[in-house]
Amino acid sequence: MRILNLLHAVLAAAIISALPTEPSSSTDLATRADTSLVGYLGVFFLGSAPNIYFYLSDGNNAFSFKALKSGQPILKPTLGTGGVRDPAIINGAGDEAGKKWYIIGTDLDIGKTTWDASQRKGSLGIFVWESTDMINLGSERLVKVEGDTAGMVWAPDAIWDPSKSQYLVHWASKFYSSSDTKHTGNPGASVMRYAHTSDFKSFTAPETYINESPSSIIDLDILKLGDNSFARFIKNETAKYVYMERSDTGLFGTWTRPGGANAMIHSGVEGPYAYMDNTVAGKVNLLLDYYGGDGYRPFTSTNLNANAWQDADRTNFPTNLRHGSVIALTKDKYDALKAKWG
Ligand SMILES: *[C@@H]1O[C@H](CO)[C@@H](O)[C@H](O)[C@H]1NC(C)=O
Repeated sequence: MRILNLLHAVLAAAIISALPTEPSSSTDLATRADTSLVGYLGVFFLGSAPNIYFYLSDGNNAFSFKALKSGQPILKPTLGTGGVRDPAIINGAGDEAGKKWYIIGTDLDIGKTTWDASQRKGSLGIFVWESTDMINLGSERLVKVEGDTAGMVWAPDAIWDPSKSQYLVHWASKFYSSSDTKHTGNPGASVMRYAHTSDFKSFTAPETYINESPSSIIDLDILKLGDNSFARFIKNETAKYVYMERSDTGLFGTWTRPGGANAMIHSGVEGPYAYMDNTVAGKVNLLLDYYGGDGYRPFTSTNLNANAWQDADRTNFPTNLRHGSVIALTKDKYDALKAKWG
């Protein structure tokens, strides 16, 4: 998700507008403890239900969440397949007056298809919901982002790209030979693709962002650490594990794996989602989806120059939350979400 970086996602709008000119940090982790932040909103899908569910934190406890709207879906698409997975909430850039939030997601109801068919002739679009207040989300649009040689568009997420002053939107696709119009042959490996947009309506022509062929990769999430420093989390779909890379030279800079070329965070997981802690400076919270088990489990690290993750306390962390995203909340947004769906 992923995201328009959560670091700033949470700052006051005036500060957000200053995001691209934020002072550069060293290779230390940028800090984000911010006293204007009072909680978190989690946006997830649930295993059997391809809809979007909202969870509100218990204040600034990053791992204590309760379902909003009594656990009923907040968003149910009607376009495309009629199902949505992997929702990413994006804290839009812009000043107070022009500020928007976006929720984007995969167009897939796996109950109506198979994993094989959905990667050959799956949807080539992403769902987009857009809001000026995070509360009124309207209905979705379905925007086609890939050409017809792609088999699917999975797990879209976005992050503000300061070098372009646009959002970098990314997703995973596999490609078939252009003569194989029915996509019955063997595709290439799943690669990460990207496009830029300023409005989530029109997108630049898609290009490849990360290609680890012959390994297939999916589920990219990018966390901003400082002006030019980012961490990215990726699932190795060939070996079924999640790993982290770091760049101190921007989104298109040099990425290396802290902990060594074969370092992984965990195996048997997917849908990584990282968010900065609201109250402890330099602390990163990470969710990993145990897709064969009970869904998201939380982890923490205070050093993203290493591959050093600890299990977090999940006493109050709901089970069966699947690949989604978390955004930090100021008091007005926390109160508004609670008033509407609490
Ligand atoms: C993915 O896992 C396979 C099998 O362990 C390994 O050979 C490959 O290098 C890995 N690729 C990446 C990008 O981690």
